[in-house]
Amino acid sequence: MYYKRKITDDIYYVGENDRRIERFENMFELPDGVAYNSYLILDQKTALLDGIDEAVSERYYENIRFALDGRDLDYLIVNHVEPDHCSSINNVLREYPNATMVITQKGLQFMEQFYNLDYQDRVQIVGEGDKLDLGKHQLEFIMAPNVHWPEVMVTYDHTDNVLFSADAFGSFKAIAGHLFADQVNFERDWLEEARRYYMNIVGRNGPSVMRLFKKLVDFDLKIIAPLHGVVFRTPEMIEMILDKYTKWATYEPEEPGVVLACASMYGDSQNMNDILAAMLADRGVPNIRVYDISKTSPSQVIADVFRFSNAVFTCLTYNTQLYPGMDALLREIAMLNYANRKISFLENQSWGGRALAIAQEILGKCKNLEIIGEPFKIKSSVAPEQMDELAKLADEIAASIE
Ligand code: FEO
Repeated sequence: MYYKRKITDDIYYVGENDRRIERFENMFELPDGVAYNSYLILDQKTALLDGIDEAVSERYYENIRFALDGRDLDYLIVNHVEPDHCSSINNVLREYPNATMVITQKGLQFMEQFYNLDYQDRVQIVGEGDKLDLGKHQLEFIMAPNVHWPEVMVTYDHTDNVLFSADAFGSFKAIAGHLFADQVNFERDWLEEARRYYMNIVGRNGPSVMRLFKKLVDFDLKIIAPLHGVVFRTPEMIEMILDKYTKWATYEPEEPGVVLACASMYGDSQNMNDILAAMLADRGVPNIRVYDISKTSPSQVIADVFRFSNAVFTCLTYNTQLYPGMDALLREIAMLNYANRKISFLENQSWGGRALAIAQEILGKCKNLEIIGEPFKIKSSVAPEQMDELAKLADEIAASIE
């Protein structure tokens, strides 16, 4: 891109969009693509903060060359080694033979594991609180292990009060012109993809996110520049995203509401969920989502299961076990440390099996899950005489929502 994008007077955005990628980490659908963010500081010394994915790297190298405008690169700061940021690193170091790579010790270990790093002799290892003087800009490195990987650090620029936050505060979705959160309708157009990104990528590591936040309380965050998605630069947007992250990282629901996650081979379990959803709506329950987990991306279901206060899981018997899609979904939810929610179960069992028991066993590992109502069970389809029983469950779920 022969076009400079400024973050501040000396800081430029040199990242790239990837709209061709189907899935992030080959798992999570990307209907709107993703942006790999990278930043360049032009000072007495020049510093590039993070690389991008090799898939779109040709434009990236062009961005760097254009922004450097003939200058050399002095430092390459690697906050996070995952390949969406580092598969291009060897080429950057090759193109700029005088650049020193600034990285954590563990980051260097991962670089060698993943990329057969060619330039071990050009490495400066940094740790908690270490500083880097670029001339006018004074950078400080803050360790952020497990936000998302163990080697992660973030970098704070004391001069322009910019936090280069690595994966934290990132989002799925390519950048469409507007680079800053205050230039878009973030709540309408970005928040869902920010939540889906956080819950699925970083969600398991809430305590690590909170440990980082504790370290950041004394830093004046005027700009937050993540490795994916839009940049936050107004007090309102920074407060908004910090508030969301605090809820997400402490596993607190954002809103009252019910996600009904169902699987349904022939439509009968779907019918059971639709009846319950209608009953909940008639009882004044806000925010009801019904998802067929065979159809809707698990990452979307997971994002909403974490967003809302209540969930209802349908346990369908398949080959005497729990329906495989639901089994996988519940294991992923548990793996992400689902907690502090109210859950209920529906079961469809035509002639036997352990579907409900398996689901309860999987979620039994989660902390502070309150079971609302008795599991509602059907044999193949909802029978008319069961409607009072289903209505009782709807009453109990509605009453549990504050
Ligand atoms: Fe965007 Fe954990 O990499």
